[in-house]
Amino acid sequence: MKKILVLNGPNLNMLGIREPDIYGKQDYAALENYIRVCAKHYALEAEVRQSNYEGELVTWIQQALGVFDGIILNAGAYTHTSIAILDALKAVAIPTVEVHLSDINSRETFRRFSYVSMAAEKTICGLGFLGYREALFHFADK
Ligand code: DQA
Repeated sequence: MKKILVLNGPNLNMLGIREPDIYGKQDYAALENYIRVCAKHYALEAEVRQSNYEGELVTWIQQALGVFDGIILNAGAYTHTSIAILDALKAVAIPTVEVHLSDINSRETFRRFSYVSMAAEKTICGLGFLGYREALFHFADK
């Protein structure tokens, strides 16, 4: 069974409360549950974590080396700012799919640039929870 590390960055723990018109009304626990159900469906072993700290996300990416076969990353606002996360992804070279709940290309201009994209095999945005399902499908044996 392939092991996939699903990392969610800052403020994703505020789902359901934060800007529901953009991010939806379901909370973070519902997202984690959805990811687990989808992973099972695709016969993947998924570990889901969330952090508001850039360094913690960097450490988790580093520690994924030799342990996980793929990374699904929604780095939240760090997407647009973090060279450290980009460097960590490049260092471990684990196949990575970038996910965003909202369509970052149709919002403020500062959201259009993504450091994560430079290391990701694929970027999925604007599909809400479904984006995580698509990302898991990317790693599924077809
Ligand atoms: C986000 C988009 C980012 O621009 C934002 O900072 C987030 C969430 C998304 O899932 O749509 O925190 O990554």
